[in-house]
Amino acid sequence: MSETSAEGELAPEDNPVLQGNFAPVHVETTAFELKVTGTLPESLNGTLYRDGPNPIAPGAGHHWFAGDAMVHAIVLEDGAAVAYRNRWIRTESVERHKGLRAAPTSPNQPGAQGSGSVNVIEHAGRLLALPEVGLPWELGTDAGTLGQYDFGGRLSTNMTAHPKIDGRSGELLFFGYDFGPVHLRYHSAAPTGELTRTIEIAKPTATMMHDFAVTATRVVFMDFPVMFDLDMALAGRSIPFRWNDAGPARLGILPRDAITDETRWFPVEPCYVYHPLNAYDDDERIILDVVRHDRTFVEGKLANGGSPPTLERWHIDPDNERLTREVLSDRPQEFPRVDPRVECHPHRFGYSVEFELGRGPGSLLKHDLRTGETLRHDVGESGQASEGVFVPQGPGEDEGYVLSVIYDASTDTSTLRVIAAQDFAGAPVATVALPARVPFGFHGNWVPSR
Ligand SMILES: [Fe+2]
Repeated sequence: MSETSAEGELAPEDNPVLQGNFAPVHVETTAFELKVTGTLPESLNGTLYRDGPNPIAPGAGHHWFAGDAMVHAIVLEDGAAVAYRNRWIRTESVERHKGLRAAPTSPNQPGAQGSGSVNVIEHAGRLLALPEVGLPWELGTDAGTLGQYDFGGRLSTNMTAHPKIDGRSGELLFFGYDFGPVHLRYHSAAPTGELTRTIEIAKPTATMMHDFAVTATRVVFMDFPVMFDLDMALAGRSIPFRWNDAGPARLGILPRDAITDETRWFPVEPCYVYHPLNAYDDDERIILDVVRHDRTFVEGKLANGGSPPTLERWHIDPDNERLTREVLSDRPQEFPRVDPRVECHPHRFGYSVEFELGRGPGSLLKHDLRTGETLRHDVGESGQASEGVFVPQGPGEDEGYVLSVIYDASTDTSTLRVIAAQDFAGAPVATVALPARVPFGFHGNWVPSR
């Protein structure tokens, strides 16, 4: 979405989402042989990609979800932290403001050119930076932008940033939404990357659908009342959505292999879910673990909701159109993640970032959903964690490492922590000093070396 000004909105110098570690960095950095404290596992070979907003010319009323995208890539190899790079995604906006040549676009480009600031995934050997709306941007392993990616011409509509890669089959499941007469489309791509399915799904109102859930056999859409607001759009607000008590609150269940829109919708209590942890089949029922917000986007503002977000298990009985809620952890938290091998299938462990009231992100959490135990990895009084990305290193579900970029407000610097998941509350096995501050971003993934 483009940067715009709106009368009466906060000036950049007064805007909290442009201060501290929300503030963008101003240069692209390339550095080699990073300083490591502790011992990096020699088996950890690959790159951690992180994505987030890094606006070049934020206007009045800038929203955290808006602005140009920057990808950060940290390369680990044979026990060394060999490189760090940060790069803006080469959109038309970045060319206009920074003079960096825009990457090629697809002739299929939908209405809005997405900045690509939300997530980086790898599927079928392609590295894709994903926006909330728009087409993906394909990246090189050096985080440079190759161009917009449209699945060989087969994707002509928006793709959101939260596809699921089935941990067993390798299939890519995703959706996209827009503000026209067709609001929702469901897609799947084979493990080889070929787009094999696109279904248009009828939906009466345009809502912000940030994420969805997929099991081995079904797809769950969450349609909650954060609604597109035409007045906000006309007033130039870059993210024209607001909570609307009159809006929808419902779940839609679709067979994963459907070829037409046979989605069954049923109403649930209003709330908002940015991110599920994971979902799986439980016979005819569905288990869906989510971070649930009472409300969000009230008057269009993020931190203007109800009580803090907590981790819940939703037992969904589609036949009887029933949802039963169970609180798994009442600590405020966000950015839930599982071992990628259990995505769409039963999981035991989950990782998230603790949110402290008035402070934002804090330490990291590991939930054992079988025993009910939650462990905390303390990042220090001045530390603030980003999403913890689990990297498998053995057959067990928590055999591996959790990687998280930590901001230290006392030094205004960022580090990468490598935490042994089976010694989660212990000291990190290694800490990598990063040569540039990494602003608070959204999501990312580990891509093993080939
Ligand atoms: Fe997200």
